[in-house]
Amino acid sequence: MTAPCRDFRAAFPYFNTPNAGVYLDSAASALKPQVLLDATCAFYAEAGSVHRGLQQARTTEAFEHARQLMAQWLNAPAAECVVWTSGATASINLVAHSLANTLSKTDNIVTTTAEHHANFVPWLMLTKKCGASLRVVAFDAQFTITPTALLNQLDANTKLVALNVQSNITGQVQDVATLIPLIRRHAPNALILLDCAQAIVHQRIDMQQLGADFYAFSAHKLYGPTGLGVLAGRMEALEALQPLFYGGKMVERVSESAVSLAPLPQRLEAGTPNVAAVIGFGRVLEWLAEWDFDALNRDAVTLAQHCQSALLQLPGCHCYSATPAASLFSFVFDGIASVDIAMLLQEHGIALRTGAHCAQPYLDALGEQSLLRVSFAPYNNDDDLARFLTALSQSLDLLT
Ligand SMILES: Cc1ncc(COP(=O)(O)O)c(C=O)c1O
Repeated sequence: MTAPCRDFRAAFPYFNTPNAGVYLDSAASALKPQVLLDATCAFYAEAGSVHRGLQQARTTEAFEHARQLMAQWLNAPAAECVVWTSGATASINLVAHSLANTLSKTDNIVTTTAEHHANFVPWLMLTKKCGASLRVVAFDAQFTITPTALLNQLDANTKLVALNVQSNITGQVQDVATLIPLIRRHAPNALILLDCAQAIVHQRIDMQQLGADFYAFSAHKLYGPTGLGVLAGRMEALEALQPLFYGGKMVERVSESAVSLAPLPQRLEAGTPNVAAVIGFGRVLEWLAEWDFDALNRDAVTLAQHCQSALLQLPGCHCYSATPAASLFSFVFDGIASVDIAMLLQEHGIALRTGAHCAQPYLDALGEQSLLRVSFAPYNNDDDLARFLTALSQSLDLLT
C-alpha cells in the first residue's frame, strides 16, 4: 500500500524551518527527508566503522543492507555490482582513471554536447593524456541524441561511449534503451557508461533491462546525503577496473612485496567508507519504496508544465525544455541578465539555479551564456509555483 503523494512534503523538515523559501533547485540537490536525519543521527550516536571487528557487526549489516537495497532499486544482477563512491563525479573519474592504461592513440571515446562537465571533462582530459580522440555527438533541435548522430561517431576503435540519460539543462531524456544495442553493434569494443545523475530521480533505472556497463549517480539528488555516490555496473566491467585508491579494506593479502585484491565491491572501496551516509541512504531507499515513485514524479512534471505555460505568456521568455515534459527546464528573457533575475528572486526567498550549470559545451551549442533553471520535486506544491510566478513578475517589473 503506497502513501498518497500529497503527504510527501510533510516528510521534509525544511518546510518547517523559519527561513524556508520556495525551493526550486532540486536538480542541484534534493531536500532531505526526516528519515535520513534520524538514521544518520542514530548511526553517529551508537556506532563506528564497518568491516573492522566483531563489535561492528550490526553496522556492517546495515551498511551491506543499504547496498542490497540499492541493488534492488537498480535491478542490479547482484549487490556486488554496486560500488559506493563519493558522488557521480567520482564514479565517472574512477572509470576514466582505469581506462588511462589501456587507451592508445588510435582509439576514441564518444560523448555528447549534452553532458554535464562531470561526464565530459574526465573524457577530455583522458583523451588528451593518451593522445586518443574525443568525439562529441551533437544534440538535435529536440535536445535529443539521435541514433544517426551517434552512429556516425562509432567504430571498432571506440573504447567507451559516455552519455547522460537525462539532461540537467532541459530535462530531456535520451532513449538509451534504443541507443545501447546500436552501440553494441557498431562499436563492439566499447564500454558504455550512463550518467544517471538526473535520471535516477525521475525514472527507474533497470540495469538488467538496459545492459550498459556502468551507471553513475549521486545520492544527494535522490533525497540522500551529500558525499555519497554509486558506480554500478556489470560484474565483469567492474572487475576489470583498476582501483583509483589503494589501502585498507580492499585487499585480501598483503606481504612486503605483493598484494592480492579483495573481490568486488571492496576492491574499489579502499579506506573507511562514508558509513553514516550509506546507512542513511539505505533508510531513504526503504522509505521511498513506500511511495508510488512514478505518481510522485508525475506530480512534479505537472507543476513544471504549468510553470512553463505561465512563463511562455511573459514577453521575451524562451524556454529550453524536454519533450515529453520533465520536472526541470531552463529559460532566459531577451535583454535581461539571468543573474539579475536570480538575485531578485533570491530576495523573495526563491531558490533556483542560474549560470552555465556545469555544462558549458551545452550552452555554447545553444548560443547562451547563462540560463535560469527551475526544477520541481514532488514536495513542491501549487503554492510554491504561485509564489515563484508572483516573485518573477515583480522582479521583471523592476528590471524592464
Ligand atoms: C547530469 C549530471 N551529471 C553529473 C553531475 C555531477 O554530480 P555530482 O556533483 O553530485 O558528482 C550532475 C550534477 O548536477 C548532473 O546534473
